[in-house]
Amino acid sequence: MADPPDIDPAVFRQVLGHFPTGVTIVTAAPERKPVGLAVGSFTSLSLDPPLVAFCPSNTSTSWPHIESAGQFCVNILASDQEGLCRHFAGKSEDKFAGIGWKHSPLGSPILDGVLAWIDCTIDAVHPGGDHVIVVGRVHDLEVATEGGPLVFFRGGYGRFEV
Ligand SMILES: Cc1cc2nc3c(=O)[nH]c(=O)nc-3n(C[C@H](O)[C@H](O)[C@H](O)COP(=O)(O)O)c2cc1C
Repeated sequence: MADPPDIDPAVFRQVLGHFPTGVTIVTAAPERKPVGLAVGSFTSLSLDPPLVAFCPSNTSTSWPHIESAGQFCVNILASDQEGLCRHFAGKSEDKFAGIGWKHSPLGSPILDGVLAWIDCTIDAVHPGGDHVIVVGRVHDLEVATEGGPLVFFRGGYGRFEV
């Protein structure tokens, strides 16, 4: 089989940006210090056993801390949480300063006002180019607020009317 052709990164970003996603904040609290990052690559993976997945970049500074915790909580953002998403997509030293949250049953942060949360332990980590694919075993989950989700599409934020 011939080598695959080079793909222009700008074209890759532009085309893949046409796939709309929800937005999550993946959190953990290794040694009781909360960490988290904005994640659009979250997906439901398996019902039996109950598994989910997300893909942190090899450049993520939060992922090594999440991996050391061995567990994480996926926070699904509501339509009014664009500011929270931008905050957790940044690189500030203490992303949790001034942020309201409580502990999940496993001990990871559940952020105030999220639509739903999924509390997981890390089941497997697979290579994925410049990202890794993290598979999580679901231990607990809950719909926290009724409402619409925050949506990411073509590099911008949108809403889904419910
Ligand atoms: C809508 C949206 C989705 C994102 N999805 C991902 C993702 O799936 N994986 C990832 O590694 N970074 C993703 N990012 C970028 C990270 O949130 C960003 O690089 C952040 O600074 C990483 O923080 P950290 O260094 O604390 O891990 C996303 C950002 C936005 C705004």
